Amino acid sequence: MAFNSRITGVGSYVPPKIYKNSDLEEMMDTSNEWIIQRTGIEQRHWVDENTCTSDLALEASNIAIADAGLEPSDIDMIVFATLSPDHDFPGTGCFLQTKLGIPNITVFDIRQQCTGFLYGLSLADKFVQSGGHKNVLVVGAEVHSKGLDKTPRGRSVSVLFGDGAGAVVVSRTEVKDKSKDSHILTTNLHADGTFAKELWVPAPGTDIGADRISHALLDEGLHFPEMNGKTVFVHAVKRMAETLTQSCAEMGVKIEDVDLFLFHQANLRINSKVAEVLKIPEEKIFNTIQKYGNTTAATIPLGMHDAIKEGKLKEGMLVASAAFGSGFTWASSLWRY
Ligand code: UT7
Repeated sequence: MAFNSRITGVGSYVPPKIYKNSDLEEMMDTSNEWIIQRTGIEQRHWVDENTCTSDLALEASNIAIADAGLEPSDIDMIVFATLSPDHDFPGTGCFLQTKLGIPNITVFDIRQQCTGFLYGLSLADKFVQSGGHKNVLVVGAEVHSKGLDKTPRGRSVSVLFGDGAGAVVVSRTEVKDKSKDSHILTTNLHADGTFAKELWVPAPGTDIGADRISHALLDEGLHFPEMNGKTVFVHAVKRMAETLTQSCAEMGVKIEDVDLFLFHQANLRINSKVAEVLKIPEEKIFNTIQKYGNTTAATIPLGMHDAIKEGKLKEGMLVASAAFGSGFTWASSLWRY
């Protein structure tokens, strides 16, 4: 028997310290005007030296679990999406599991970067549908600030990224009326590794010479993210529009039937272009990049939580999400809240 799943709890957390664009002007030969005009970003939150990715995830997870009316011990699986793990291995999901105090459950770490949350949502949905799990915690969390080149050399990438975490609980549910009841309608996942090096961090790694890490690699700055921004931009618009159209067609939903669009937050201009292509009224798109920058796997659940707090996401609404990022990976989902 196949079950349905729905999002029963949502939480998010950003570290307290805010860095405005003007703070970055002093570090990396950039300007508030350039950042706002090219990306829409006004500020981002960055952690202090004692805070790691699973710390942010723990805060967001506790809020999501309480919002679902559950205790941590009710969670039977964690899917953790991050590109900025606490350590190379084991996965950050295991560190979060320990902090939550819930041993002996299923834990995944997934590596789909900006698309990680939607890949995680899809995994959760499928595990719940199979009947194997009842309450899955899906987390997207990032600490970018400890991995950015904050000198003028890194400015084209480093001004974009912020730290933060978002989490949802995906639980088994009964759906009587598909047009009204809260549930995940569909998720569509894609990747094309041909473009893997258009947005990546080369080192440390096993494809980089005799040692995974060396002084020479560090001196060359190969541990910092590299991006061909224009290529990423063009593909992001095309693929997000394409996968959203696919999810809607699959479920017989028209774009105008969707109440709210929660997109990945890489660039305000990307989301405006997607809106233009699909004829989505801008007011139906909920953006948070202005205050958080790009928090990669955390953007969609962070946006979800803010939208709920601001009264923009209400029970019964039909929501469409789409994301695009390194891999290249891209995905979309339709769900009723
Ligand atoms: O999360 C998913 C992955 N990421 C994305 O989806 C990001 C996609 N790409 C983008 O959002 C945009 O390509 C960027 C915002 C990254 C860059 O915008 P752009 O309009 O493509 O700018 P550009 O890279 O072509 O750079 C234009 C100019 C260059 O100067 P010249 O060659 O015209 O003199 C850069 O050197 O802007 C310069 N520039 C900067 N100036 C001030 C690059 N970065 C900065 C900076 N501050 N931070």
